[in-house]
Amino acid sequence: MRIAFVGKGGSGKTTLAALFTNYLVKKGNPVLAIDADINMHMGELLGFNEQIPFKKQLSSPEATKFIKQYLKGKNNRIKELSQFRKTTPPTRDSNFIRISENDPIINNFSLRKQNLAFMVVGTYDLDGIGASCYHNNLAILENLLSHILDKDCYVVVDMVAGTDAFANTLHFQFDLLVLVIEPTRKGLEVFRQYYELAKSAGIDTQILVIGNKIRSQEDKTFLLENIPNKLILDFFSDSNYLRKYEQKGDKFDLESLEESNLIVLDSLFSFFSKIKPDREMRLKKLYEIHKKYVAQDSIKERFGDLSDQIDESFEYSQVDK
Ligand SMILES: Nc1ncnc2c1ncn2[C@@H]1O[C@H](COP(=O)(O)OP(=O)(O)O)[C@@H](O)[C@H]1O
Ligand SMILES: [Mg+2]
Repeated sequence: MRIAFVGKGGSGKTTLAALFTNYLVKKGNPVLAIDADINMHMGELLGFNEQIPFKKQLSSPEATKFIKQYLKGKNNRIKELSQFRKTTPPTRDSNFIRISENDPIINNFSLRKQNLAFMVVGTYDLDGIGASCYHNNLAILENLLSHILDKDCYVVVDMVAGTDAFANTLHFQFDLLVLVIEPTRKGLEVFRQYYELAKSAGIDTQILVIGNKIRSQEDKTFLLENIPNKLILDFFSDSNYLRKYEQKGDKFDLESLEESNLIVLDSLFSFFSKIKPDREMRLKKLYEIHKKYVAQDSIKERFGDLSDQIDESFEYSQVDK
């Protein structure tokens, strides 16, 4: 199962994604956490002291090449690596990623402890700064997500701030998208923007709101009066523990979090557990988007006809019973 945390910068995406990852790790199933936010600090909250070196960050040229080569496997519908686009779907001849240390991609590109593997998409390179380039970095994440077999494990993505989270194939690659919203006018504005995007992409049923940094009943009322109530899962309070953690930089410990906030994680988990993932439906959506993508003249000119990359007879269940 897969979940992404989205919202505006500073709203608490990384914090909630990391807390929920820690929570899932305790449950004992394999968890893959991916930091796709621009200022990367999810690892620290997950208890990793070391940084992932540039070459091991997913969007670095070395890593991207290795990963695409591996995922391609014996998939002859990809003639050369440059034709492996963000919408290129898997076939039964592709290699897939399984969340285990025996998996070459997990093994090469993640930090690990217990049942947790942690990857980062990676920073802007210098050329990317200022240009609207981060979604190019996100392309490799799209490939990973379409090739991960996650039946008995969890994937948690701390998503980039802003609407890049809805670009390309990213919005439908998850079973649940959690919008982290602060009780401010700016928070509402972000909510509306994202919700409109989600509706037009037909994924509004996969969206859930958690109010964050809640200080009072008034904060709750403010969100309840402005956001469809069925979308609001719960409210995460402004946390003294998190504040102290930010001040002192001690090791992060889930047990020390306020009871009321732990209960929010419980309710998120129980909501998440009830979802029935539909990966074959995701695959169909991927096909649709791929068809649109490859129909563009600019793509045809650069890469040739990529429409035969789709194997309509393939289903994930053929490679993952
Ligand atoms: N519920 C909360 N209580 C107290 N501080 C919080 C809470 N949620 C987030 N923060 C703090 O707000 C800041 C931004 O959070 P972060 O998770 O990095 O946001 P984002 O990833 O959305 O940019 C951090 O200093 C974090 O510790
Ligand atoms: Mg962040």
